[in-house]
Amino acid sequence: VVPAAFSVPMTVPAELRPVRSTRDADHYRLVAAPAWAEILPGVRTPVLAYNGTFPGPTIRARAGRRAVVEYVNRLGEPTTVHLHGGEVWPEDDGGPMDLVAPGTARRYRYPDRQRAATLWYHDHAHHLESEHVYRGLAGTYVLHDRHEAALGLPSGRYDVPIVLKDARFGADGGLVYLPGDFGGRTTILVNGRPQPYFRVAARKYRLRLLNAANMRFFNARLSTGDAFQQIATDRGLLPAPLTTTELPLSPGERADIVVDFSRYEPGTRIVLRNGFSTHPATDAILRFDVCGRVRDGSRVPERLAALPALRPATVTREFRLSMDERTGMGFINGRAFDAARIDFTVARGAAETWRIVNDNQVIEHNFHVHLAGFRVLERNGGPPLPTERGLKDTVMLPPGGSVRIRVSFDPRYRGDYVYHCHVIDHSSMGMMGRFRVAGHR
Ligand code: C2O
Ligand code: CU
Repeated sequence: VVPAAFSVPMTVPAELRPVRSTRDADHYRLVAAPAWAEILPGVRTPVLAYNGTFPGPTIRARAGRRAVVEYVNRLGEPTTVHLHGGEVWPEDDGGPMDLVAPGTARRYRYPDRQRAATLWYHDHAHHLESEHVYRGLAGTYVLHDRHEAALGLPSGRYDVPIVLKDARFGADGGLVYLPGDFGGRTTILVNGRPQPYFRVAARKYRLRLLNAANMRFFNARLSTGDAFQQIATDRGLLPAPLTTTELPLSPGERADIVVDFSRYEPGTRIVLRNGFSTHPATDAILRFDVCGRVRDGSRVPERLAALPALRPATVTREFRLSMDERTGMGFINGRAFDAARIDFTVARGAAETWRIVNDNQVIEHNFHVHLAGFRVLERNGGPPLPTERGLKDTVMLPPGGSVRIRVSFDPRYRGDYVYHCHVIDHSSMGMMGRFRVAGHR
């Protein structure tokens, strides 16, 4: 039932309109419910969807205005929605145990007092999140700000979310969910379509790459071997564009890139490939079909946005990620997630150095912290990858690998938050912990 690569057009997820706006806030409504989606041409696939779309609609928010999102749970089982990368209060964080019961609704408040970035929202109900996200409960949340708008980067229809994931289809076109599915022969989906083609004008595009896969790692490359420009990491713009030919992304990571298609003659076809895939059926992600030339007033300035100064750390911590290969149970520092436990306390507004080690020699992990952004200081004792030298909230950990990061907490927030491996089947199996940000105001 899966069509040949590049036989269906890519779609761009719909943008969610506010249900109402006030002077300083935009109110949205998302209904999570079972739905049908046309993922494969002519086939109706049962999915779990926000507002009936797979993936969910894109929210475009503006820094300095609050977004208030009402989530209605019509799934028949508990859910919770987390704004990945959002700096929010604990009660609005959609943590794994903070469930929204079936048939009820919950309002989450997003202050949006952080810099422009590509964030995303997804299900986080403990033990259900893996299947929920797999079946469609995820969408992009683009935060814009004035500084970025003044730069003249490609915008409007030339600023496109590219949500990457993979899926396994049964003979009837249904999504087959297998926990711990490494996805050797799954189908790559872009914005919910299988290995689509995308007709682009011969001009610059900003592509917001989001790895929303449960387990698959991507290394984005162009089939021509040509370079493109990376302009942002998880939590916002880089100080300057990075020219690169490859861009690795583990689950949960985002990177904004600018590809200038005016270099190519109309009629040229360029494939976005996954350099990590060894399987010919899964190494192609998306084909760009370059069409006519259009006027392009956009630019990629040499300076984008200065990074905040790296604050000195007051505390150093170590996190060792491990997984029992036989049982699939996940651990951080030898312990599985326990909702009743706070693993450590961070002083409000602190900066800390965390060293994270993947103790498995064949299993890939990564590491994501709620609330705080971080910078990667070191990878395997050497410099970080060129593509991770910006503000991050998720960092990849190949087998046996280690990183050192400087985590920086905004003094405005206090309370309990989680950190976990974002290979989502692993956090679901225990590779998650909880910390408390404490202190007086
Ligand atoms: Cu993408 Cu705990 O989150
Ligand atoms: Cu993991």
